Amino acid sequence: MVYTLTTPLYYVNDRAHLGSAYTTLACDAIARHRRLKGESVVFITGCDEHGQKIQRTAAAAGLSPQAHCDAVSEGYRELWNRWQISNDRFIRTTDPRHRRIVEQFFARVEASGDVVEGRQQGWYCVACEEFKDDPHEAQDPECPTHRRPLEWRDELNLFFRLSRYQRQIEELIQREGFIQPVSRRREVENFVAQGLRDFSISRIDLPWGIPVPGHGGHTFYVWFDALLGYLTALLEPGDEPNLDLILERGWPASLHVIGKDILRFHAVYWPAMLLSAGLPLPEKVFGHGFLTREGQKMGKSLGNVLDPEVLLEKCGRDAVRWYLLRDIPFGDDGDFQQQRFSDLVNNDLANTIGNLLNRTSSMARRWFAEAVPPAGDATAPSHPLAIAASAAAGTVQQAMEALDFRSAAEAALQLAIQANGFLNDQAPWKAIKQEGQQAAVAADLYAVLEAARLVACLLAPLLPELSGRMLAQLAQPPTPAWPASLAWGLLQPGTALPEPQPVMARLELDAPL
Ligand code: MSP
Repeated sequence: MVYTLTTPLYYVNDRAHLGSAYTTLACDAIARHRRLKGESVVFITGCDEHGQKIQRTAAAAGLSPQAHCDAVSEGYRELWNRWQISNDRFIRTTDPRHRRIVEQFFARVEASGDVVEGRQQGWYCVACEEFKDDPHEAQDPECPTHRRPLEWRDELNLFFRLSRYQRQIEELIQREGFIQPVSRRREVENFVAQGLRDFSISRIDLPWGIPVPGHGGHTFYVWFDALLGYLTALLEPGDEPNLDLILERGWPASLHVIGKDILRFHAVYWPAMLLSAGLPLPEKVFGHGFLTREGQKMGKSLGNVLDPEVLLEKCGRDAVRWYLLRDIPFGDDGDFQQQRFSDLVNNDLANTIGNLLNRTSSMARRWFAEAVPPAGDATAPSHPLAIAASAAAGTVQQAMEALDFRSAAEAALQLAIQANGFLNDQAPWKAIKQEGQQAAVAADLYAVLEAARLVACLLAPLLPELSGRMLAQLAQPPTPAWPASLAWGLLQPGTALPEPQPVMARLELDAPL
């Protein structure tokens, strides 16, 4: 069984911003979690490169659309590399194999009798590449997401007969777990309850798109083409583009992670398209919230973006991952606040987790021959830190299954807090000066080092680098398997401990990011 996981395919109208990095980082945590459990994962990301928005952006920059897409998508690819995103695939919808997949898919949909000609009139947002629900008589309507005027469209297009799938889509969206979080299901239910209307899948006079076979002058509507990118992405390097092969390569997807703005496309249009083409449906669609800054959606079109390049350079990967995954309940909106960002990073990572390991390792090295001390009775399951560790491991595993990164992060942090508390109570720095306390001090330090190992293992999907640095300080292998590594008492007494290095630098941000 393959776990296939996707981010949205990002528009290349501009460079990535923190909103796109957020989705990608969250998916990275999911992919890493699945791999830790020994699952085989195909983690897909990529770029959505056709459509009017891209055509206009390229023209404004005086570039051919292809040259523009090549440059921007390369920027995405490099950025994800620098963020150490563990994606297995990077699909571009201008990939020649994608065109073949789109053609084959369209042929199936047409053969199902689901393509008809029709006239589309309505208000269109080019930034969303979407017809909006505003009534025809609306005066100067705006896109609520982009705060830009909608454009009136009146076109003869090819339509997909979505209306035929009313009942199947109703059933699908009621399926337990298909739309997550559950709070987002309601808006899709309302939309579907109004009655599904056929939607146009082609454009005329829009050269920057994939031509529709057999319908001269039509190119595919960018969303029709883009969603199919999830299929093309599954092809392996030498594969011929063949829809049947996709089923052997990891389709259906286990999870599409998207922003709430594009839930309708993923939970309604996309499944109907797949039904029409006779392909299985994705198991789950998770619509997360928006990152805001000063309460406004962060977006390329609004110009209030936080640049992931700047964040990476000034703050580092661990800091940003921690803030986004630990502070924002996945699914809800989150507001980026710089002060809170640096407070959390410094308190949780530099002070609580970093110091825990540093000071314990220093004491162990000083008093116990630069090695993990003898464990004594610290390996007993009844040891207070063994109990705390087992509770943390249970919570983190459950939370990660539920994509509740915040609870997972908090539970790992809580274990570090308990271990610090234990250390302070036992005060080994005093005890070591007393006669006959050597074995008790050894056991206490062992227990705290073991708790630190557990913290590192639990953080592995969320903060792979910090986790790796902690494990290196404990002379442990870099990637822990779950659940094997989460058992208590695995640290071997006598293991040489390397010289302590700070595992997390403090963030000192003197200017706004
Ligand atoms: N190209 C389409 C998706 C096609 S999928 C087959 C698209 N691209 S996008 O670049 O405009 O946005 C993609 C996603 O970026 C959003 O759904 C969301 O996941 C993420 N975000 C964009 N702005 C965001 C925020 N301000 N906050 C959080 N995520 C946001 O739509």
